[in-house]
Amino acid sequence: MSVQRTRRTGRVHPLRGVDAAPGPTGSARPRGTLIAAACLALALVGTSAQAGDPEAGREKAKQCRTCHGIDGVGLRPDVPNIGGESEFYLTKQLKAFRSGERRAPQMSVIASNLSDEDIADLAAWYSSIEFKVEMPD
Ligand code: HEC
Repeated sequence: MSVQRTRRTGRVHPLRGVDAAPGPTGSARPRGTLIAAACLALALVGTSAQAGDPEAGREKAKQCRTCHGIDGVGLRPDVPNIGGESEFYLTKQLKAFRSGERRAPQMSVIASNLSDEDIADLAAWYSSIEFKVEMPD
């Protein structure tokens, strides 16, 4: 409640502020660097990973649905939403769980059984889901 009141008193909303004006601190350069890094990362992934098949991923996602739902919306508070997440990020996280670089009791076990093709298909499926974002007033 107090947050809403603060916004109404005319403080620039952090996100709208970014949209409206890049700001005087010259944020263009770091953002450009980020975009370049993201493009490079995507290019690297593009060369090593086969493109996933979203329809095959939809089938394979049946093993994920008890926690993430078939639509990627987490069904428990400890389960993150993965629907609409980028293919790059999903692939990266699933491979990190599989290799042990990222550890979480349930995901580490599940990912250890996934092939590169499974991961590509699952990432293609969950990233193909469209989601909408609504900001609070
Ligand atoms: C038994 C419940 C369960 C099942 C089944 C399950 N997950 Fe998860 N998943 C989790 C939990 C809990 C986390 C959060 C892990 C953490 O806290 O780091 C998670 C995290 C993830 C993340 C990382 C999301 C992020 O925002 O970083 C991805 C991607 C993911 N799961 C994909 C899958 C896929 C694909 C399947 C099916 C092959 C699957 N999960 C099956 C419970 C589950």
